[in-house]
Amino acid sequence: MSLKSKYQMMSQKPEKYSSSYNFPANGILLLDSGVGSILIASEIKKLLPTAPLLSLGDQKFFPYGMKTEDFLLSRVHQLLDSVFENFSPSVIVIACNTASTCVLDSLRQKFEVPIVGVVPPIKPAAEYSANRKIGLLCTEATLNRPYLDRLILDFASDCSVTKVGCKALAELAEKRMAGEFVSLQEVKVDLHAYMNKLRIVDSLVLGCTHFSIFRNELEEILGCHIKIFDPAIAVARQVARVFEQSGFQLNSPYWYMTTDKDLSISKEKCISLGIEEVYSL
Ligand code: DGL
Repeated sequence: MSLKSKYQMMSQKPEKYSSSYNFPANGILLLDSGVGSILIASEIKKLLPTAPLLSLGDQKFFPYGMKTEDFLLSRVHQLLDSVFENFSPSVIVIACNTASTCVLDSLRQKFEVPIVGVVPPIKPAAEYSANRKIGLLCTEATLNRPYLDRLILDFASDCSVTKVGCKALAELAEKRMAGEFVSLQEVKVDLHAYMNKLRIVDSLVLGCTHFSIFRNELEEILGCHIKIFDPAIAVARQVARVFEQSGFQLNSPYWYMTTDKDLSISKEKCISLGIEEVYSL
């Protein structure tokens, strides 16, 4: 693996973050098809401000929501093998529902470090729902996973679950992170055909890590009475528990690594999120 620095956040970057700076051995590695890893990392940063974070966005193969299980299995293994050539993270977070719902078992068999996955938070939504009507937004791939059927059967078998396989929302999240304007109308597109059903749910599950960026818009579209279940905070708490057991390191770089040849997050966003350096893999 060769790392090429896209640029360094000069305005914020302390001297020690030179391009030759080595990422600490025991950092937290997050993997997603794109900016979902950053959205989860932001929650982790609130709990562990000094923990070294490495967010990896596989933007070359975005969207994962249109890929087969076989493809994702081999791609995620290949990516993690490459990362392990240079880094030895102490925790791996598969910050992607589409990947987690098919790769977690095989990763846990292969890697010895703890692996935290992100799956749709059906359980807390079902525990909360008074009218037993739940909405679920996820990618089309997640929608068809047996893993999802099992989650619903185990925790929400007495609920009516309106499942929406979103085609555009993840891409819109990438667009917003790239600094482009995304309108409310664009956010609505995936939901149009389901509006009648979604208006009567009392809880909405975000089954894709990209979608947290549109929490406000979703509230505006569906109404504030709906409680949104976003797994980011619960995942961050779990990562914090695991990470604290593995020993703390005081220096705290936050890197973003992309597999795409072009940087797809705006520099302003990187700075506001605390990302110090961006690399391509
Ligand atoms: N963020 C990913 C998830 O949680 C999927 C986005 C994509 O389609 O690549 O499922």
